[in-house]
Amino acid sequence: MIVLGIETSCDETAASVVVDGTEVRSSVVSSQIDLHAKYGGVVPEIASRAHVERLTPVVTEALARAGVERADAVAATYGPGLVGCLLVGLSGAKGLAMTWDAPFVGVNHLEGHLFAPLLEEQDLGWPLVVLLVSGGHTLLVEMRGPGRYRLLGQTIDDAAGEAFDKVARYLGLGYPGGPVVDRIARDGDPTSFAFPRAMRDDGYDFSFSGLKTAVVRAVERRPDAATADVAAAFQAAVVDVLVTKAARAVAEIGARGLCLGGGVAANSLLRHRAQEAVDVPTYLPSLAMCTDNAAMVAAAGTFRLGHDGPSPLALAADPNLFLEFRT
Ligand code: KG4
Ligand code: ZN
Repeated sequence: MIVLGIETSCDETAASVVVDGTEVRSSVVSSQIDLHAKYGGVVPEIASRAHVERLTPVVTEALARAGVERADAVAATYGPGLVGCLLVGLSGAKGLAMTWDAPFVGVNHLEGHLFAPLLEEQDLGWPLVVLLVSGGHTLLVEMRGPGRYRLLGQTIDDAAGEAFDKVARYLGLGYPGGPVVDRIARDGDPTSFAFPRAMRDDGYDFSFSGLKTAVVRAVERRPDAATADVAAAFQAAVVDVLVTKAARAVAEIGARGLCLGGGVAANSLLRHRAQEAVDVPTYLPSLAMCTDNAAMVAAAGTFRLGHDGPSPLALAADPNLFLEFRT
């Protein structure tokens, strides 16, 4: 079955053709980072307008690269995300499904991220612990098989990537902050500041807003501290909390693997520490599969179509959609 996936929940306009839920024939991603960089974050109105302009060319390119003129089904993210952005992809997907007389299926963006590693790794051992860390989400999930998962914990305030972006902005490092903090932290001393590890040894939920405040206070106290030292100490605190909880989840569940996902999974210290912290295999998807893309939406859509059937064309965008417990 040939499924066209569409993803427009935030600042990436993406379309992809996936065959039988596993074979990625094409994956086109048009990033809007340059449009939002000067504002220091994603501006919802600019993002929705850019999706409107880019969706048709991106879908056309995904179909052309896959060498097909239509798909057997159309899958699109319907939440969580920015409501104006979600509406663009959702409306486009419904229109195509009607034109092609093909089924339409709405996909939870978070479930999409959980399908991403399955597209690159065929030999996963179950259960898996998945640490999903991006600009919008920070989730720790027990995955028992494709489409079967239990949420262990999530952030109670800022997402991990949001903390990177806010701290980078405060340090004058630009947007998005994660890659530049990662780069300059290599020349810094992670022990130069003792930043808090909020809730590290306590359950599976996360909190990062206090850390951001601690960085601001520390820089106010030591204004001549090297930016590289601040970045290194901040990054060490975030990674310490993420890896400690993920490793504890692996041990408590008896997981057969640890998988990272989301844009923060590109972080070099996180990738390194995660591998050190557990003695089960770690799955580190390629950057293209960690960040927002439509191949993961097509894969999750294929699975949902097979399990639950098509979604109604009246399906509404849900900006606050959460990850359901599914066994
Ligand atoms: O998954 P993603 O592309 O978009 C969503 O938020 O859905 O993730 C983007 C986030 C940004 O907050 C960015 O600063 C962060 O991922 N990021 C990183 C790195 N590369 C991207 N954070 C830490 N280290 C990195 N190397
Ligand atoms: Zn995402």
